[in-house]
Amino acid sequence: MKLIKTKDYAELSRKAANIIAAQITLKPDCLLGLATGSSPVGTYENLVSMYEKGDLDFSQVKSVNLDEYVGLDGSNDQSYRYFMNHHLFEKVNIDMANTHVPDGTNLDNAKCCDAYNALLKEMGTVDLQLLGIGPNGHIGFNEPDDHFEQLTHCVDLTNETIQANKRFFASEADVPRQAYSMGIGNIMSAKMILLVANGKNKAKALAAAINGPVTPQCPASILQFHPNVVIIADEEALSEL
Ligand code: GLP
Repeated sequence: MKLIKTKDYAELSRKAANIIAAQITLKPDCLLGLATGSSPVGTYENLVSMYEKGDLDFSQVKSVNLDEYVGLDGSNDQSYRYFMNHHLFEKVNIDMANTHVPDGTNLDNAKCCDAYNALLKEMGTVDLQLLGIGPNGHIGFNEPDDHFEQLTHCVDLTNETIQANKRFFASEADVPRQAYSMGIGNIMSAKMILLVANGKNKAKALAAAINGPVTPQCPASILQFHPNVVIIADEEALSEL
């Protein structure tokens, strides 16, 4: 596990974008695993600005996203499809047909998850998986549990996650109670994992993920077993380490 400490969010975002940019430059048709949430927003901003300067070409890049809220379609501004379109896909020259997010409008949980697992298999190995981390140590929407879920599954969101994510919605009642998420096995099969974390509210989860026991009670702790993980975190997020 490689840990890169930054003084603030701006530096974190530049460094994370530089690593993703290097991946795209080295392998223009790479498969990126992408994440949503506030943590990677700055990373996407930097990638967009590299593209605008002519330094990055997304024309052959393919992507698979970690997760999606059950019940939200891509036109809902809280859906992760909307987030990706808005923060990255519509601002660079990626082919939309090469971008994939679980289908939140498919309310048949088993069918939706099976379809996404089949898609992941067909797409092949993710070259670089970007991750954030929840305040309870979740990655994607893999919540603390008594076991690690391997494949894409439907998750009942914990109250802690609903509380953490309600800031994006008009009211707490509007936060969906379920999400589709890649499993830990899907995430761990990526060649490289890049986790970004900023702010004091991530400090406990990050310390547990890096130094604590590997346990499904802190899903991010599984990353200790991955051979190629880079964590970029600001001073606040590393304050409990
Ligand atoms: C959501 C997403 C995660 C993300 C986490 C942290 O629950 N499913 O992928 O890492 O929130 O979000 P934020 O970066 O906004 O703190």
